[in-house]
Amino acid sequence: MVPYQAVAFGAVVRVESQSVRSGMSYVVRKRVLSLQKKARERLRRLGEFRGIRRQPFGTYQKSVRRLYDGPRGAALKFSSIISLHEPLMGKLFRSGRFDARRFSRILDVGSGAGQIIRHLLATSRPDTEIVGFDLSWEMLRRARERLNSDRPVFVAADMRALPFRDASFDCVTCGYVLEYLPDPKDGLREFARVLRPGGTILLLATEDSFSGLMTSHTWKCRTFNREELKVAAESIGLRWGKVHWFTRFHELLKLGGILVELEKVGE
Ligand SMILES: C[S@@+](CC[C@H](N)C(=O)[O-])C[C@H]1O[C@@H](n2cnc3c(N)ncnc32)[C@H](O)[C@@H]1O
Repeated sequence: MVPYQAVAFGAVVRVESQSVRSGMSYVVRKRVLSLQKKARERLRRLGEFRGIRRQPFGTYQKSVRRLYDGPRGAALKFSSIISLHEPLMGKLFRSGRFDARRFSRILDVGSGAGQIIRHLLATSRPDTEIVGFDLSWEMLRRARERLNSDRPVFVAADMRALPFRDASFDCVTCGYVLEYLPDPKDGLREFARVLRPGGTILLLATEDSFSGLMTSHTWKCRTFNREELKVAAESIGLRWGKVHWFTRFHELLKLGGILVELEKVGE
């Protein structure tokens, strides 16, 4: 009887100490993760372009418009080609990894020099309606001239207040534009509103990597932490869907930023 009780007692003690230990390690792990998150956030804020948070948003946005209206905006089409960003994006469309033929009405937010619209024109159905949208009229003028097609319609305004009806598109594409808002939810909420339930957003965004931080200074924008962007998207009913990489090499080395399909939940 005694050894049995002792064994039983021992077993209870072991179980208890294990659960205490695993409880402790859970608490420690949670604390370490939260410290890591804070450190990463601090590093990002230290390393990235700070003007977006340091000045009133209206003043910052005027400087963004000036940047794109001016010579830097005029050179955007060349820098997108030299950095390989535009050709790599083309592979994503042409390979069918992002199949634009699924959609009948596409809104391209922040069309810039028409980098994404160019690929949409080449890979979507001929009857698909395409709307190019940008804060800068000058960028849209350049895009129209460059694309030389009467298919896209161009509209200039701010992505925080899209001048379109609810559920009027089945796809929104947005390449490197959300980084012009301190809070990505201000843009994502609008994309979700104009999207029909079950619709798709193709989002390309600058990540908080070393090269992302450099980009943020060149183009006066912020960067995103992948996990935080995912939480922000999911908090407004946008499911973090298919994740893309430009090439296997980019995937292996985790380069090229965030490329993801977000799906509007609800169908
Ligand atoms: C880096 S370019 C992106 C060009 C293109 N989408 C691409 O994938 O390369 C950023 C564009 O976003 C536009 N933009 C910045 N803030 C915006 C806003 N609040 N609403 C709409 N467009 C905005 C800029 O005018 C600029 O043309």
